Amino acid sequence: MYELEEVDMSVVRRTIAEMRTARGAVAPGEKIVLVPTMGALHRGHLALIELARGLGSRVVVSIFVNPLQFGPNEDFRRYPRSLENDVRAAMGAGATDIFAPDALEITPANLQMSVDPGPLAEVLEGKFRPGHFSGVCTIVLKLFTIVQPDIAVFGWKDAQQFLVLQKMVSDLNLPVELVGLDTVRESDGLAMSSRNAYLSTQERTLAPTFYRVLDAVRTKALASAAGAPSLLEAGARTELEAAGFAVDYVRLVSLPDLQPVTEVPRQGAILAAAVKLGTTRLIDNVRW
Ligand code: PAF
Repeated sequence: MYELEEVDMSVVRRTIAEMRTARGAVAPGEKIVLVPTMGALHRGHLALIELARGLGSRVVVSIFVNPLQFGPNEDFRRYPRSLENDVRAAMGAGATDIFAPDALEITPANLQMSVDPGPLAEVLEGKFRPGHFSGVCTIVLKLFTIVQPDIAVFGWKDAQQFLVLQKMVSDLNLPVELVGLDTVRESDGLAMSSRNAYLSTQERTLAPTFYRVLDAVRTKALASAAGAPSLLEAGARTELEAAGFAVDYVRLVSLPDLQPVTEVPRQGAILAAAVKLGTTRLIDNVRW
């Protein structure tokens, strides 16, 4: 569907200097939209690129597997890398420029500064992945200063990432508007993720239950006789564990500040969860 005959690698900027030159050549008044990715592009990413295409005249897709956002025992080394396929897919979906820097360009050995994302980054994912959001914010801030986009597009699958980045933009007065896109799902409900590629056939069959459980809890939460948030969380955990998932967390918190709630909000809530299937860690969420 998104195939081009040839991969035109000349659109790929491999250095910060090349990216800055390309950025400098953009005519004033053109709107630049950045889609930050770690590559291994799937239909979820392509939906982000298509959305970006509708928001501006230049769409820069960055492809960088960011070492700063992986913990020491996480999957940095085995994270899928496929630059040529990614360039082909991104261009097919409407990218005009690709920024795919070498690791040493962005994270040189003498890098000392980092963003401290504060309390919003300490709950949910932040509890299980210490330093993760600092790594995300540091790299995204670098991308913003190099590419200088008017708009940047992110997926709601990484809901906490989106909220932490919004806080960074607002607290640091960054001149960029963030736009979020709803999670893109497989036809069986499984959220698209580059990490789905790790799942065995058997795990892949089980994986959609993750979203089914979260979605059922949302339906229950919105029913008038919904129990306390802690009961809904516990119910979801039990169901997920019974289905074969190892549960890191299932939390029902308020949006956009990710605070615990004592009653189920009628609106402005998110049920966020992280589970493991074998060695693969999946995250997902439902909002209302
Ligand atoms: O969502 C991702 O793929 C990454 O966290 C991001 C935003 C590209 C930063 O490395």
